[in-house]
Amino acid sequence: MNGFPAVDPIPLPAPIWLFKLLHIVTLSLHFVAMQMLIGGLLIAVLLNLLGRSPASKTAATAVARRLTVVMTYVINLGVPPLLFAQVLYGRAIYTSSVVMGAWWIAVVPVLIVVYWLLYRFAAGLEQGRKVWWMGLGAWIGVGGIAHIYTANMTLMLRPEVWQQMYSVSPLGTHLPTGDPTTAPRFLFFLAGGFVAAGLWLIYLAGRKTFTAIEGRFLSALGGRIAAIAAVLQIVTAITVYRAQPAIVQAGLGSNLLYKIAGFGWLGLTAVILIYAGFAAIAKPSSTLISWLAPALAFLSIACMTLYRDGIRDLTLLSKGYDVWARNVVTNWSVVSIFLVLFVVGLGVVGWLISVVARATPIAETPTSAIAAQGSAL
Ligand code: HEM
Repeated sequence: MNGFPAVDPIPLPAPIWLFKLLHIVTLSLHFVAMQMLIGGLLIAVLLNLLGRSPASKTAATAVARRLTVVMTYVINLGVPPLLFAQVLYGRAIYTSSVVMGAWWIAVVPVLIVVYWLLYRFAAGLEQGRKVWWMGLGAWIGVGGIAHIYTANMTLMLRPEVWQQMYSVSPLGTHLPTGDPTTAPRFLFFLAGGFVAAGLWLIYLAGRKTFTAIEGRFLSALGGRIAAIAAVLQIVTAITVYRAQPAIVQAGLGSNLLYKIAGFGWLGLTAVILIYAGFAAIAKPSSTLISWLAPALAFLSIACMTLYRDGIRDLTLLSKGYDVWARNVVTNWSVVSIFLVLFVVGLGVVGWLISVVARATPIAETPTSAIAAQGSAL
């Protein structure tokens, strides 16, 4: 007898490996966008608060302007993995979401306020105003959401505390406490935000829409931030690993896939450290070099997502929930329709990206600075 609800009336309609593949790919994309938001927002806030040079103003505006778009990706790329997670781990994740239900549902109103603040922040920067406090408000909201997600993703692994939490607060107003893995995980994602955002600035440095001075500024700043954050993320990763129970550590060490993912992440983070250090010192503006940044970000985050999946599966297995033992009755006609629509969807996204790539580039300089230049002439 384990602590998970026994009811699982409907078998899975597709192979478990397919759900897992789709889950890890879509969740990696969610993590890329989410980390750009966490790091990019605080960088724009600090540039608005402390930056004096025209290049720092352009950088803050360019990042803030894009953050409203990044937010749409955070949300839309969060939906598919949430659906796959519910299908694979419903008995765990539904229960933990109910047990801390008030916090879980609070994500929606907080998200709406954050979105509004992001638009106000971007508009204020465009007008050349000091609006860092709006951005900071949005960042606190984003951090709060990240904390709620980490709390739920770790609570779903602890069936032993659910009944007690529910008896203390049936309304779900209590956040779980006492789990040694929660805080390190939260700090790991926080540090990762600055790795992703630093790489994002290096990528922006290679775009021809920025002047040479702005490009060098972006590259130097992004390189420094990504390099320092990469070191911090390695430290937090070790803390996350050490906080795992011995049985999970042993499982991670004896599974080839998780070993490849773990060492893959470590190796890629070391490469990011060198690449970011190079960008900070040499301040390159080559498009080719700048494209390495998103490639490294995606690959390292995908490895981390796979390893994180291993931590979850091994923890659940140690408590009696074997995701690979789920009952499967594949409905091939539905799976085929899904895959065809998926490929069509990818084609449409590719076409949309090509339209954006061919569009006339927008000026990166804030409109207030353009107006000031005009009146000075
Ligand atoms: C500002 C908004 C958001 C932030 C900062 C954020 C942050 C995070 C963080 C930090 C995690 C990892 C938690 C952990 O493993 O410890 C996570 C996981 C996740 N997030 Fe988000 N998130 C946001 C919005 C959303 C939205 C709107 C959705 C869905 C509609 C979503 C779906 C997910 C899913 C499905 C997972 C992981 C599920 C799994 O483990 O399988 N997120 N998010």
